[in-house]
Amino acid sequence: MSNLIKIGICGWGNVATGLYKQLSTNNNLDLNFEITCIGARRDNPKCDPSPIKIHRDIFDVIDDDIDVLIELIGGVEVAKDLIERALASGKHVVTANKAVIFEHGKELIALADQYNVKLLFESAVCAGTPIIKMLSNDLQANEVSKIAGMLNGTTNYILSKMEEGESYEQTLKNAQELGYAEPDPSLDVNGTDAAHKIGILSSLAFNSSLPVHGFHIEGIEQITQSDFIFAREFGFVVKHLAVAKKTAHGVELRSHPTLLKSSSNLASLKGVRNGIQIDTDLLGEFHIAGSGAGQESTASGIISDLISLSRTENSSSMNMPEFTNAVKIIPFTELSFRYYIYLEVKDKSGVLAKVTKIFADQNISFDKVSQKEQLSDNKVPIIIISDPINELNMQNALKEARCHEEILDLKIIRIED
Ligand code: HSE
Repeated sequence: MSNLIKIGICGWGNVATGLYKQLSTNNNLDLNFEITCIGARRDNPKCDPSPIKIHRDIFDVIDDDIDVLIELIGGVEVAKDLIERALASGKHVVTANKAVIFEHGKELIALADQYNVKLLFESAVCAGTPIIKMLSNDLQANEVSKIAGMLNGTTNYILSKMEEGESYEQTLKNAQELGYAEPDPSLDVNGTDAAHKIGILSSLAFNSSLPVHGFHIEGIEQITQSDFIFAREFGFVVKHLAVAKKTAHGVELRSHPTLLKSSSNLASLKGVRNGIQIDTDLLGEFHIAGSGAGQESTASGIISDLISLSRTENSSSMNMPEFTNAVKIIPFTELSFRYYIYLEVKDKSGVLAKVTKIFADQNISFDKVSQKEQLSDNKVPIIIISDPINELNMQNALKEARCHEEILDLKIIRIED
């Protein structure tokens, strides 16, 4: 039997109540625990934890007789304060909060070290899908060269439903009701949540410093249903991907929509599933996938951290990352992609020649061009698949194209080859 651990849960929203339900009803857990108290500013009508003691001031949880504080309040600054005070009081902390780990993981881990306690965060990336422990422990013998993944469950859910013909607005609403989205769902759809996660994974894989800023982050807000239809014609699906890649010149880091080949492993993952492809020297390329958001998946990751804590007599023997080495992030404009280019142009002679010239002036050549049926108001969509070209050339071409009044609408999606 493992050591008894006394738990204080801070936060009483969707994730916390999901964890409580698993801890209270799951008979398969090899975990000797008690929930000593809950820090909740208000009751949650969906879950009554009585007779467990409730603290209305979440900071009071730290002073209770607990071994581990589980931080599920979300956000950055208050969460950081709570975690700091808990660690400094000699309590282990488990958190599912990627934003706080991304922004302050380095100093919080150092603080945990200083007080000889642990800060564990398996659920911060891909919820319960076990990527944190895998990178920190199981892959130690490997050199990881690339991590590419769909790291946000909400966006994969929305994109999968849009592919089936449902609207962006309705599926975002559904994702919120299902408890997948962040309290502020703009963090999901604008690529920030996935960016936090790839930043953390990059740090674990490449021992790079956190936080890392200034890399390319783009969301799914501009994706429309026609993109799925046009992408399919060329053998692609639209996904949101986050990538960390180690090169001789530094680390490539990015979080943005992409077109993936329909036949690829990641393309086949639908709904709230997250998927990660990891390139290593010893294992080669391998994949993991699992539900990336939601009560059950997040509870799975948090409980795995609790089990790790309860099984380890001497907590100092557990591995924690350091997030210390600053690596150079390669400027996004230096990267090279093939592009899906969507244009809406005035349906009149000479426009296609003008478009071709704008891109040719930046050395951008076209692999495929397809003119679609005319829309209303004399507008016609043109889809171009480019050959590989430097991002800077593409941005120059887009800037020039936007100056021409015959080009009414314009967007690109990068292709992940
Ligand atoms: N909002 C997040 C997502 C929750 O959709 O992936 C899990 O981190």
